[in-house]
Amino acid sequence: MRIFSGIQPTGIKHLGNYIGAIRQYVDGQERAAASGDDSLFCVVDLHALTVAYDPAELRDRVYDTTAILLAAGLDPDKCILFRQSDVRQHSELTWMLSAVVPNGRLARMHQFRDKSVAQRDLVSAGLLFYPVLMAADVLAYRADEVPVGEDQREHLELMRDAARDVNKRFAPDLGSGEGGEGGLLIVPEQRTPEVGARIMDLQEPTRKMSTSAASPEGTVYVLDEGKALEKKFKRAVTDSDSGEGSIRYAPKEKPGVSNLLEILAASRRTSIDEAVASLAGARGYGDLKMATLAAVDEELTPIRERYAELRPDVAAIEEALAKGAARASELAEETMVDVREAMGVGIPRAVQAKASSR
Ligand code: AMP
Ligand code: TRP
Repeated sequence: MRIFSGIQPTGIKHLGNYIGAIRQYVDGQERAAASGDDSLFCVVDLHALTVAYDPAELRDRVYDTTAILLAAGLDPDKCILFRQSDVRQHSELTWMLSAVVPNGRLARMHQFRDKSVAQRDLVSAGLLFYPVLMAADVLAYRADEVPVGEDQREHLELMRDAARDVNKRFAPDLGSGEGGEGGLLIVPEQRTPEVGARIMDLQEPTRKMSTSAASPEGTVYVLDEGKALEKKFKRAVTDSDSGEGSIRYAPKEKPGVSNLLEILAASRRTSIDEAVASLAGARGYGDLKMATLAAVDEELTPIRERYAELRPDVAAIEEALAKGAARASELAEETMVDVREAMGVGIPRAVQAKASSR
């Protein structure tokens, strides 16, 4: 069971990233190790080039995000943690996959359409190619499983189709790559958490929590603490129901309350039913907010403390990333040797073998 996931270097990640993805990475690190295989976690700096950015700032945000991952429990001795741009095979495989990915499909992707509408200046070709690079990230390692939030579903479908199409067209004899069967590339499965796969904005609970939210008050960051953290939960948007039965899980009808229940359950690592039951004696939404705040604070406090220790030591972060990149490059090259051979580029294997036996 090989696990791969990627995360954008947007700096300090938010609670949606943490519950939907980062916590699953830590769990994946343990499960992969138990199965005797590798887990890989990649800070995707090349993806950050698809929108306007500042080069010096990008480096700092990579350190912030890496330090968050380390603080959350990723251990470079147990998993392969690296920076995407350090492993050249990702870029190479992106180009190779472009041979099978239809342009029209890229233009129809939700993220491309949303981001290109929001973009005031340049809509880069990189933005269109974003999903191909993401497919290459995972397929280069023949990973079986990809822990991500619900919002990545469309990207995962494109990735799975790219793997199928390469296998069918260039290596039909090697197997489909589907459902644990071997193949030139492996068709990976998406893994989303049962609770918290889509955490919503606290101010606008019908929109997912994100770094680019309209109101900063609605986004909780992993490093938020004290009064600032408290304020965000106290002001969370709920609804005007009151009395018995108003604290229940009904995302369509009661998005704000349901989101708080989801955050509460995820933070306590219980089911949503248990979270609802624990509030049976509550006097109103104030109690729900305070319980959620307490659970989130308890979950985030140790991360905040470790982050403060880790982030200043940039040399140590670079060292961890370099170690990860060295190992990731070896694994990616194993795949690329086969992909080049199947797709007819590079030195043919037979010629290479003759040259090295001389
Ligand atoms: P990103 O910051 O876009 O690289 O996202 C990192 C991970 O967090 C991805 O796996 C996303 O699916 C996940 N994610 C982002 N926003 C949310 C959210 N609001 N709820 C749950 N997961 C999320
Ligand atoms: N697109 C993902 C996001 O926005 C980030 C990402 C890039 C990723 N490459 C990946 C996620 C590979 C999983 C696997 O969150």
